[in-house]
Amino acid sequence: MDRKVLLGVTGSIAAYKACELCRLLAKKGIEVQIVMTGHACELVGPATFRSLSGRPVALDLFEEPSAAVHHIELAKSAPVFMIAPCTADVVNKLAAGVADDLLTTTALAFTGRLIIAVAANAQMYLDEATQTSIRKLEARGVMVMAPDSGELACGDTGPGRMPEPVVLVAAAEEALRSSEALKGRRVVVTAGPTREDFDPVRYLSNRSSGKMGYALARAALQMGAKVTLVTGPTALPAPVAEKLDVHEVISARDMCAATLDAAREADIVIAAAAVADFRPRITSETKLKKYALTELAEQKEGETVITVELVANPDIISQLRELREDLLLVGFAAETQDVDDNARQKLQRKGLDFIVANDVSRTDIGFGSEDNEVCVISGSGQTRIAKSSKFEVAWRLLELVAASRVC
Ligand code: CTP
Repeated sequence: MDRKVLLGVTGSIAAYKACELCRLLAKKGIEVQIVMTGHACELVGPATFRSLSGRPVALDLFEEPSAAVHHIELAKSAPVFMIAPCTADVVNKLAAGVADDLLTTTALAFTGRLIIAVAANAQMYLDEATQTSIRKLEARGVMVMAPDSGELACGDTGPGRMPEPVVLVAAAEEALRSSEALKGRRVVVTAGPTREDFDPVRYLSNRSSGKMGYALARAALQMGAKVTLVTGPTALPAPVAEKLDVHEVISARDMCAATLDAAREADIVIAAAAVADFRPRITSETKLKKYALTELAEQKEGETVITVELVANPDIISQLRELREDLLLVGFAAETQDVDDNARQKLQRKGLDFIVANDVSRTDIGFGSEDNEVCVISGSGQTRIAKSSKFEVAWRLLELVAASRVC
């Protein structure tokens, strides 16, 4: 795919941050074509963007000299169109299909990957009109980058700050990746933790954020697969894409049922979820009261101790192997010690084709962090993937899986 990005700048005070964004994209070797609205030009001069991008800035539908139909030429000129900052006004226009200047006509004619980074006053962002527009755009496959919260230019505090340029550069780089390595394949990804209820307010769970599984789902989509994401509870926005089905589940048993069902039609299952191995034997329908628990307690070494009975959850990936011998199965091994050895044993015990070993005792990778560093082990050898973003790790892993003899 061409490493070209159309960068649309609209009239928010965050337009000054788009200068840094433009510079960072260019530094990554990405060709940047700037499109500015009239309001953006009131805040930052086009000459600044011209020198940062090394190209003339597109400003006017009717400017001379220009291509025969300026906005159509622009729309066809890059695979990724990022509008950053994107004001609430432009969000609402895009959702309604309004095309009344160069930026919005170009967006309407654009058929590639559209990413918008909203920057607005908190109230304007949270207004029902803007929120409805965002949902509409997401349903059409537009990637909407939610604003950060904090102090805003107007003095108010709340959501509305444009995400930092480094975050936007990572999103643009991700969108520029494409391959046909998994074209026509049906991939199921499990992600996140599971939650096992003690009662309506308390549960047993783990630290999985779901980021690795979500990155795998996005990478598989960009490699041409049809993807089913079975996700436990996470704080991540549910991805939206035409070839993606998302099943939100809570407990290991729910995840097991949804995964087994989705796997019937699948070619590949990647189990990135951190499934709780055990659940409370009894789940109370009403909140367990402290006094009632205390009555059941015993005294041990000066402390009040209660004993909870746990029962084993189904091992989803082992059940999948029993169900379908022909399925390509990829598991994850979250380990804190003897990482590779433990992972190799799990590969055999669970009948997997690949296992991805990661060291969750490190704080700079794995659970919750943005990066990962893994060792991909199969029956025929192993490949180390150096520390990189979870999307990059997902991409490299899927390339290995797609190129394997079993795929
Ligand atoms: N897994 C699963 N069902 C479970 C537990 C785990 O499908 N009930 C999957 C995970 O999604 C992962 C792999 O099995 O792909 C290994 O998970 P992990 O928690 O590392 O292994 P466990 O079998 O739980 O072993 P241990 O807790 O002893 O490390």
